[in-house]
Amino acid sequence: MRTLVTGGAGFIGHHLVARLLSRGEEVVVLDNRSSSSPMPDHPEATYVEGDVVSPPALDGRFDVIYHLASVASPPRYLADPIGTLRASSEGTRIMLERAESDEAVFLFASTSEIYGDPLVNPQDETYAGNVDVESPRACYDEAKRYGEALVYAFERTNRVPDSRVARIFNTYGPGMDPEDGRVVTNFVMQALRGEPLTIYGDGSQTRSFCYVSDLVDGLVRLVEAGERRPVNLGNPREITINEFADIVASKIQHTGRDYRPLPQSDPLVRRPDITRAAEALNWRPTTDLDNGLDRTIEYLRTFSA
Ligand SMILES: NC(=O)c1ccc[n+]([C@@H]2O[C@H](COP(=O)([O-])OP(=O)(O)OC[C@H]3O[C@@H](n4cnc5c(N)ncnc54)[C@H](O)[C@@H]3O)[C@@H](O)[C@H]2O)c1
Repeated sequence: MRTLVTGGAGFIGHHLVARLLSRGEEVVVLDNRSSSSPMPDHPEATYVEGDVVSPPALDGRFDVIYHLASVASPPRYLADPIGTLRASSEGTRIMLERAESDEAVFLFASTSEIYGDPLVNPQDETYAGNVDVESPRACYDEAKRYGEALVYAFERTNRVPDSRVARIFNTYGPGMDPEDGRVVTNFVMQALRGEPLTIYGDGSQTRSFCYVSDLVDGLVRLVEAGERRPVNLGNPREITINEFADIVASKIQHTGRDYRPLPQSDPLVRRPDITRAAEALNWRPTTDLDNGLDRTIEYLRTFSA
C-alpha cells in the first residue's frame, strides 16, 4: 500500500502518518511547511516540500491520497485568506486529478466549519449549514465547502469514484503548535505562564473536543469502510468555553479571565452528531477530555519553560 498525505507534516498529519507507517504502508508526505507541527518528521516516511497548488513531481502511483493540506487555525487563515482559499479549491482539484490518474482512493479533510454558525444543534451531515460568505472566516469555510463540492463532482462524473469526506470537528492533542491560536493551546499556554485566559464573547459558546488518536482512527476507518457520504468525526461531548477554561485552570493553576469581543461569525454552538460514523464505521471516540487534556498539557509544558 502506497499512500500520499498532503499536509502530513501538520498536527493531525503527524499522527496519521505514524498510524499508516505502523500498518506497514509506504508513506509520502507533501507539505509546504507553512504551519507544520513542532514534532519531528518520521524517519520512515518520505517528505517532499511543496505546495498542493503547484506540486513538484511525485513519482510512482498512490493507492490512497489523504488531502489534509490547509492551514487550520483561525489566526493563520485570517492572515492568508487567499492562500487558504487556494489550498482547498485549486489544491483539492489538483490532488483529485492525481487521484484520477492513479485510480486512488481520495479522502478530503473537510471541517465542521462548513456548518458555519449552525442553527441546529447537534449538527448531522444532512444539515446544509449557515455560512456567511462576507465574514472573514469565509476564506476557510467556503474553501472547504467548495472542496467538498469538487469531491462530489469528481465522483458523480466517475473521475474519482472512490472518494471520502471527513468533516472534522475541533481536534486536540500532543503535536499541536503551541502558538497556533486555537483555544486548547491558548488556554493551556496561558495557564502555564500564569496569564489570564482569553475568552472571546461571554464564554457561553460551546465546543466539542476530540482527541487526535480517536480522530486518526476515524480517518483510517473511513477509508477502509468505503463510505462515500460525508461523515462527521468529532467528540459529541459539548462544553461551554467557560467550562473548558475552568477545567484547564483546575489542572494547571487558577488564573483570571480576560473577556474580549466575540469575533464576527464565531460559531455559538458546535457539537457533532456521530450516528453515521457509529453505524458506517463502527467508530466513536474513546479518549475522554480528562485524559486527553492531561497528555496535551504534558506535551505543551515543554514549550513553556
Ligand atoms: N485540527 C482541527 O481541529 C481540524 C478541524 C477541522 C478540520 N481540520 C482539517 O484537518 C487538516 C489538518 O489540520 P491540522 O490541525 O493538522 O492543521 P495544521 O496546520 O497543523 O497542518 C496542516 C499542514 O498542511 C500544510 N499546508 C498548509 N497549506 C498547504 C499547501 N497549500 N500546500 C501544502 N501543504 C500545506 C501545513 O504546512 C501543515 O503542515 C486541515 O485540512 C484542516 O482544515 C482540522
